[in-house]
Amino acid sequence: MPTLNLGFLVSHGGSNMQAIIDACKKGWLDAKPCVVISNNSESQALQRAKNEGIPYYHISKATNPDNVDDAILDALINHNVEIVVLAGYMKKLGDNIIKKYHGKILNIHPALLPKYGGKGMYGYHVHEAVLAAGDKASGPTVHIVDSDYDHGRILAQRKVPVYPDDTVETLSARVLEQEHIIYAETLQKIACGEIVL
Ligand code: GRF
Repeated sequence: MPTLNLGFLVSHGGSNMQAIIDACKKGWLDAKPCVVISNNSESQALQRAKNEGIPYYHISKATNPDNVDDAILDALINHNVEIVVLAGYMKKLGDNIIKKYHGKILNIHPALLPKYGGKGMYGYHVHEAVLAAGDKASGPTVHIVDSDYDHGRILAQRKVPVYPDDTVETLSARVLEQEHIIYAETLQKIACGEIVL
């Protein structure tokens, strides 16, 4: 089975991306991080890419006012990316990217979709909604990206408990810990053919 070529799109910290890179380095994940792209020139994710020796690009309206999506697509294609990994990417993808990588773009969401997904449901908003609803469980979802927010086929989920005294901070930390496991695990299932995209 050939190695899976991964391209990351990340806006901020990139801890999920780092967990996937680490899984590749440890040999748990048969994949190669080929490129990291961020809309945020200050993102820790770009620094992480630099530290890891992975090619990285800042691509945004500031760098490419007329063709952000084409520039992202070019970078993905030039680096032979097979699977696009969204890891805290705060921008909507252009149709050309979704078309070219149809069914091959993954995202991780910090709640059990289809609950608590959709426009505006990102970051702490998600955990706030879970706590407000009084749910007893939450947890990350890895899913395929299509043109609607948080909507495509669900590939994996992992439940964590929600405790009565949880805050957004404690709950998000508990979910994030599982995100770091489940994203690499799902990619490995794709790499070895257990999940067919
Ligand atoms: C994670 O909570 C993930 O579920 C969401 O964005 C966040 C990214 O965190 N899509 P990090 O940048 O990987 O630390």
